[in-house]
Amino acid sequence: MSPLSQRLEELRQKIRRHNYRYYVLNDPLISDYEYDQLYAELREIEEEHPETVTPDSPTQRAGAPPAEGFQKIEHPAPILSLQNAYSYTDLEAWLERISKLDARVAEADFTVEPKLDGLSVVLHYENGLFVRGATRGDSEVGEEITQNLRTIKALPLRIPVGDSLGPPQRLVVRGEAFLPISDFEELNRRLEEAGEKTYVNPRNTAAGALRQLDSTLTAQRPLTLLVYQIVDGTGDLPPTQRETIAYLREYGFPTPESVFCQTLDEVIEVCQTWAERRDQLDYEIDGVVIKINDHDLLNTLGIVGKDPRGAIAYKFPAQVVTTQLWEIGVNVGRTGVLTPYAVLKPVKIGGVTVSQATLHNFDFIDEKDIRVGDRVRVKRAGDVIPYVIGPVEGARTGAERPFTPPETCPVCEQPVEHIEGEVAWYCVNAACPAQLIRNLEHFVSRGAMDVVGMGIKIVEQLVQEGLVHDVADIYSLEREALLELEGFAAKKADNLLEAIEASKDRSLARLVTALGVRGVGEAVAADLTQHYPDLDALSQATVDDLQTIGGIGPNIAHAIVDWFARPANQRVLAKLKNAGVWPKAEHPARAESIPQPLDGLTFVITGKLTQSTRREAKAHLESLGAKVTGSVSGNTDYLLVGENPGSKLKKAQDLGARVISEDELRQMVSG
Ligand code: IVH
Repeated sequence: MSPLSQRLEELRQKIRRHNYRYYVLNDPLISDYEYDQLYAELREIEEEHPETVTPDSPTQRAGAPPAEGFQKIEHPAPILSLQNAYSYTDLEAWLERISKLDARVAEADFTVEPKLDGLSVVLHYENGLFVRGATRGDSEVGEEITQNLRTIKALPLRIPVGDSLGPPQRLVVRGEAFLPISDFEELNRRLEEAGEKTYVNPRNTAAGALRQLDSTLTAQRPLTLLVYQIVDGTGDLPPTQRETIAYLREYGFPTPESVFCQTLDEVIEVCQTWAERRDQLDYEIDGVVIKINDHDLLNTLGIVGKDPRGAIAYKFPAQVVTTQLWEIGVNVGRTGVLTPYAVLKPVKIGGVTVSQATLHNFDFIDEKDIRVGDRVRVKRAGDVIPYVIGPVEGARTGAERPFTPPETCPVCEQPVEHIEGEVAWYCVNAACPAQLIRNLEHFVSRGAMDVVGMGIKIVEQLVQEGLVHDVADIYSLEREALLELEGFAAKKADNLLEAIEASKDRSLARLVTALGVRGVGEAVAADLTQHYPDLDALSQATVDDLQTIGGIGPNIAHAIVDWFARPANQRVLAKLKNAGVWPKAEHPARAESIPQPLDGLTFVITGKLTQSTRREAKAHLESLGAKVTGSVSGNTDYLLVGENPGSKLKKAQDLGARVISEDELRQMVSG
C-alpha cells in the first residue's frame, strides 16, 4: 500500500471510530477541534486525489446512521453540513473560490448567525400542526423522535402562533436543539448530589436526552431550540436567508440572531463580536455560520460532498488546551459525596486563566487513565466550569502516578463508603464539619427552611465556633453566645434569632427538602408529603412502600430509609420535634381520605406496554390507589402484561395472581 492510501485508510478509520463515539455513544474521546483537523486532512487529500474517494469514506456523509430502536424518517431534502474556516484568511480564500464560479458572488450579501453547538433536528408541520420530527442521522435518513421533541417548550406545536396568517399546508424546518449552560450545570449538581454520574458537556447531555426511547426522560432535561432553515414546504417560500429568518419568526419559531452583511469586512466584524460575546451566552457556540443570502445563488453554487459551497462555518479558536495536572484534590459535598477535581498548572483558555477543573468522579479518572503529573487536555466553553477531557498519553515521561481514591474523608478522616450501583464515594460521618457546613447551608436555604439572612459566612462561623453540631441546633442558639461571635452586634443577633423562629412555620415539604436526603429535592419532597402526614410516618416507611410512589426508584427509596435509620439523624429529628419544628402535611394523605378503585391491590407490570410507557402506567395505577412493585410475590394481586412478557408471567400464574392486559385493565377501571 502506498503511504498515501495508508494515511487515507488510517484517517477514515479514526474518523469512523470517533463518529461512533460522538454520535452513537455520546462519549467523544477527542475535542471537536481535533476531530475537525482529521476531517479536514481527509477532505484535502480526497480533493487533491478525487480518484481515491470511496463511497464509504466519512466525507461522503455527515454524522452516523440512525441507531436501532427508532423509526427511520427520510428527509425531504438532504440535511447538509458545512465546510469550516479557522481564520479570516480562510474566509477570504472561500470568497475568492466561489467568486470564480459565479460572477454574482461579487455583488452578493451574506447573513451571519451563531453556530449553536447542539443537535440538528428536522421538524415537519402539516396544516400548521407539528406532526413529526427527526434527528439528522446520516443526512438522508434520520431517527424519528417526535415524542421527545414535543417535550421542548420552545418548539411550537402549532403554527402560526398568532392568527394573522394562515397555516402553510406543509412546512419542514431545520433547527438546533440544545441545553442551556445554566440548566446543564443545575442538572449535574442534582446528579452529583444523588451520587449519579454527571454529564460531560451540554451537547452530549442534549444528544442523550433526544435519543431516549422514553420521552418522560427527555422531558427531565430542559432542552430548547432555535430554527434557522426551511428544508421544504408548500406555497411561496422566502428567496433569501434574511427573509427566511423573518418568515420563521412570523410563524412563531424561535430563531437565532441573524445579521445581514454586505461585505466580507462586515462579516468579519460580526465574527469578532460573537467571539467576544461567546463567554456571556447561556448556550455554547463553537463559531458562526456565514451564508450567501440569496438562495438561488447559494443553490447554483452547488455542493461538495455534503457541504454547500455558498455557506461556511467560521470556527472559533479551540478552547481546548493542554497543561500539567499537578494534583488531584477531593471536595466533600453536602451529602458527603466526594468529588475529585484537578489542580492544574495555570493556563489561559479563551482569555481566562484556569487553575482548577472538574474531574467528574473517580470512575472517570479510572476510565480515562488520568495520572497525577500527566499532561491533560482541558476544555472551557461558554460559562461551563472547565473540565478535563483526558490525558495526552504521548507526553508521558514515566514519572506520572496513577491516582487512588482516598479511603478516608479528606476533612474528617473517617472511612468513606461506596453504595452499590452508584459511581460516587461518600463520607458518611454525620459530624463531618465539611458536610455540616454544606448541610446547614442547604437547610436554611431559600427552597428549604428559608432562614432569611443566614448566609454561608454565618453558617461557617456557627459550625467553626462549635455553636452548632447539627442542623437542629440552630433552634437552640442563645443570644449571649451569638453576641460573642465576631461581627455580631445586638441587632444582627436579634434579626438572626427572629429569622430562625420564623422558619419554624415552614411546610412539611420544605422540611423534608431541608433534611438533605440524597436524591430528595423539592419535587420528591412534595410527592412524599402527599403520602406521609408527618416525619413520624415518613420515618416508618419501608423501601417497598416508598417505591410505590411515582418518581421514586430504588436508589432514592434506600437513601430515605438509610437516612432515617441513622442514630445521628434520629437525634436531629428528636431535637426538631422538641423545638416545635414538626409540621403536618398540608394535604391529608390521599389513601386515607378518598377511597380509590384500586385501594389495597398490588400490581406488577411485565412486557412492553403499547398504550403508555411503564412509568405512565405505574403513575396511573398509583393514582387509582394501587401499589406497584417490581417483582411478583405472594402479595401480588394482578400482573399487567404487555407484549413479550418475561418470566414474571409464569411466576404470577404459579402464585395464583390474576393476569390482565392493558385493555382489560381499562375496562376494569372504567367499570
Ligand atoms: S446551516 C446548509 N446554521 O452546524 C445549511 N447550521 O455542519 C447547513 N448549526 O450540524 C447548516 N447553528 O447543526 C446552520 N445557524 C446555523 C447553525 C448550524 C448550528 C450546526 C448544524 C450543522 C453544523 C454545521
